[in-house]
Amino acid sequence: MIAIGSDHGGFELKQTVMKYLQENGYEFRDFGCFTPDSVDYPDVALPLAQSIVSGEFKRGILLCGTGIGMSMVANKIPGVRAALCGDSYSAHMAVEHNNANILILGGRVVGPGLAISIVETYLKATFAEGRHRVRIDKITKIEKEYLRVKG
Ligand code: RB5
Repeated sequence: MIAIGSDHGGFELKQTVMKYLQENGYEFRDFGCFTPDSVDYPDVALPLAQSIVSGEFKRGILLCGTGIGMSMVANKIPGVRAALCGDSYSAHMAVEHNNANILILGGRVVGPGLAISIVETYLKATFAEGRHRVRIDKITKIEKEYLRVKG
């Protein structure tokens, strides 16, 4: 089950991504926005990021105009490893090496064809473990030291 969300800047590309998910048998929940009207990206990024760290969803996809705002917000939440990707190689490596649990796309940056290729690559990639686990553990350690962890 995939969590997906966008602001107005990513709204149109999100429709394309959701169509791809639907046609390829992926289940997903849309965290909004639900119309092309202007919204603030933190209001979508936060609940989606929380649903990832709570374990409700294993993978998420966030879209805004550039992907930058969504990245900034999502990566503030301890346990989130959000990767803004503009190419398929990065999307693959974001999972294989960085165990990225959220993919971020810039709806005004990448076209629909490239976006689908990025999403497909991201969803099919697997984490390599080994030395990369050690590095992820170091990210977790930094989160614990520098961010106030709730609970
Ligand atoms: C909205 O105009 C735009 O600022 C937003 O979608 C995003 O690109 C922010 O990073």
